Amino acid sequence: MPDIAFVNGKFLPLSEANVSVEDRGFQFGDGVYEVIRSYGGKLFRLNDHLERLKRSMEAIHLPPASTREDVRDIITSAYQQSGYPEAKVYLQVTRGAAPRDHQFPQEVRPTVVITVRRLAPLPSEVREHGVAVITVPDIRWGRCDIKSVNLLPNVLSRQTAQEKGAFEALFVRGGSVMEGAGSNLFQVGQGKIATPPKGSLILSGITRDVVIEIAKEAGMEVEERSLPLESLMKAEEVFLTGTTIEIISVVAVDGVAIGEGRPGKVARGLFQRYRDLVAQELLA
Ligand code: PDD
Repeated sequence: MPDIAFVNGKFLPLSEANVSVEDRGFQFGDGVYEVIRSYGGKLFRLNDHLERLKRSMEAIHLPPASTREDVRDIITSAYQQSGYPEAKVYLQVTRGAAPRDHQFPQEVRPTVVITVRRLAPLPSEVREHGVAVITVPDIRWGRCDIKSVNLLPNVLSRQTAQEKGAFEALFVRGGSVMEGAGSNLFQVGQGKIATPPKGSLILSGITRDVVIEIAKEAGMEVEERSLPLESLMKAEEVFLTGTTIEIISVVAVDGVAIGEGRPGKVARGLFQRYRDLVAQELLA
């Protein structure tokens, strides 16, 4: 089966899927999205993703495109049709197609697009050796909590990272590190793990929540506080979290080694627990 798309009520091969040039997602970036991954044939934490989608839609005054049950059924059906055990499912909801004008159109139906693609496993050296990251100024707007399709700052920053041979770019605002272009960020030190607090300046990751949950279960102290770049550089360990990358150790920031310059045992332990939890939930 090829990669699959669902566009406004119809399933079709991804290569044949289109939306209108009048779509406000294209014209204005007037839309939100989600990314869900599967393991061995089941979608992980689908409800949490749908809950965040609801929050993003409410934040931009988008009426619910369908009931939550419908969206869940469509995602599940698209995913099952793909037949991929390991897949990434993207869901974009825009305000819809209408003649271009900034304010909301009077009559418009949201555009709903779901795409299912095979998830290529991360190269094994990424897990074994960890990754290098760079820092960039956080040029984003003040509502980073909305999972908006406006990703230009993220795109530009990730491109800069790639040009410098780095895996990710970390956004720095007012001297503190917020998150990556497509990931959340944790540091480890003195037996505690710390991550920037939820709020309008980061996207509150589903993986971030899971990591906090398993770290607490493992008896670790978790602090949700700002992370000055200076203290991050001196951390024992730093790691990134995200739906597709799960947990990845950062071994260098702006060319400076973190800890001993290799993946640390806290991140390794949490990754093991993360995979155990995935296995447990998917067997349930
Ligand atoms: N990105 N922060 C940003 C800016 C992100 O784009 C993402 C996810 C995260 C992690 O969130 P989660 O754990 O819910 O995946 C944090 C996805 C994977 C993407 O845009 O492809």
